[in-house]
Amino acid sequence: MTLRLFRAELLSVATDPAKDSEAIRHEPDGLLVVEDGLVVARGDYATLVPRFAGLPVEHLPGLVVPGFVDAHVHYPQMDRIASHGEQLLDWLERHIFPAEMAFADPAHAASVASAFLTELLRHGTTSALVFPTVHAGSVDALFEAALERRMRILSGKVLMDLGPDGLRDTPESGRAESEALIRRWRGRGRLGYAVTPRFALTSSDEQLVQAAALLEANPDVLLHTHLAENRHECAAVAQRFPDAHDYLDVYDRFGLVGPRSVFAHGIHLTDRSCARMAEAGAGVAVCPTSNLFLGSGFFDFGQADAHGMRLGLGSDIGAGTSFSMLHTAGVAYQAALAREVRLDPFRALYLATAGSASLLGIADRVGGLQPGQEADFVVLDEAATTLLARRTAGADLAARLFAMQVLGDDRTVRRTYVLGECAWNRGMG
Ligand code: GUN
Ligand code: ZN
Repeated sequence: MTLRLFRAELLSVATDPAKDSEAIRHEPDGLLVVEDGLVVARGDYATLVPRFAGLPVEHLPGLVVPGFVDAHVHYPQMDRIASHGEQLLDWLERHIFPAEMAFADPAHAASVASAFLTELLRHGTTSALVFPTVHAGSVDALFEAALERRMRILSGKVLMDLGPDGLRDTPESGRAESEALIRRWRGRGRLGYAVTPRFALTSSDEQLVQAAALLEANPDVLLHTHLAENRHECAAVAQRFPDAHDYLDVYDRFGLVGPRSVFAHGIHLTDRSCARMAEAGAGVAVCPTSNLFLGSGFFDFGQADAHGMRLGLGSDIGAGTSFSMLHTAGVAYQAALAREVRLDPFRALYLATAGSASLLGIADRVGGLQPGQEADFVVLDEAATTLLARRTAGADLAARLFAMQVLGDDRTVRRTYVLGECAWNRGMG
């Protein structure tokens, strides 16, 4: 049994502050008590510390928030960030599919998976829902690397039987490989599986039927895909599925819309599909830097909130332009404002932590830094740059947090802790 006591300013937002006036939990001088990787107590330092008299206390230099949860990111695309000149469909053809073909090589997959998880940690991200490639080995590489780092990573082989040459499976092989991966990885470390059809355009009807069968047979797995991201994509989906009410309805007709479904983007949603998603308990991983980069549009928070949809936040690397969930939160603010919604910085923090965790079905484990949860947390440095130091000096908590979202990046993350152990220290490099 190992008890560790951390003294720091603590902040978490475990529920949506738009719906819960008690959502924000802030201890200006707090104590976090960790035992065997779990938070066992948290509160005001002076009040709580007598219960632990005689034990050493480590002082954490900065604002401590829960480890970030990236609700949608592609690890094989990290070396294709900033690929110039195209919107979604052409960008996939020209830049992304060729890069993903290289993941047929397990050694390449292992090398990128390792670099990717290090990059997550240096940006304060401790949990993520990750797209690999069509190759089962790309999942093994990611899960092996995550197991070593003890991170909470969810992923699953990409299903794409209508993909380009060299990047295609079949309904049968996709199903069989997914089943084998679920069997191989179930219950190991902090890993979770997600059935991952790439999007409607790269799977046959038969493969979407198989995806639903996998979901049905495995109540512990998620469904992870893309939805209504880009106008040209939406037009192609409407052309292939002329009978569907809208894009979501394509997935719905195959039984892919339920409480375990995570849809990335949702930029061009009908009111009908928002209502249906809320009813089904499905949700959207909002990816604002990606939407700006590919010219896809701005997520409509007003529409989503009017329907009570569940939301998280994703980097969507490599269409996204930053691993930083702080920066992603800052761009979410700008995207929301473009559609007349003022995204509160505490709500943005919620989306980047407990909101995403809830979307991924792991909110009982991470995202709130509450007693009983896993002790994944980040030490933020609000004086990481000269400009940030000037902007945060003497400011109130909301202004400090907002400044870190607008100006922050990996420099703003001083340390990242996984299960109470320091897994990244900025001093490391
Ligand atoms: N839709 C289908 N595949 C992809 C992808 O790799 N990235 C993004 N942003 N959208 C997609
Ligand atoms: Zn994506």
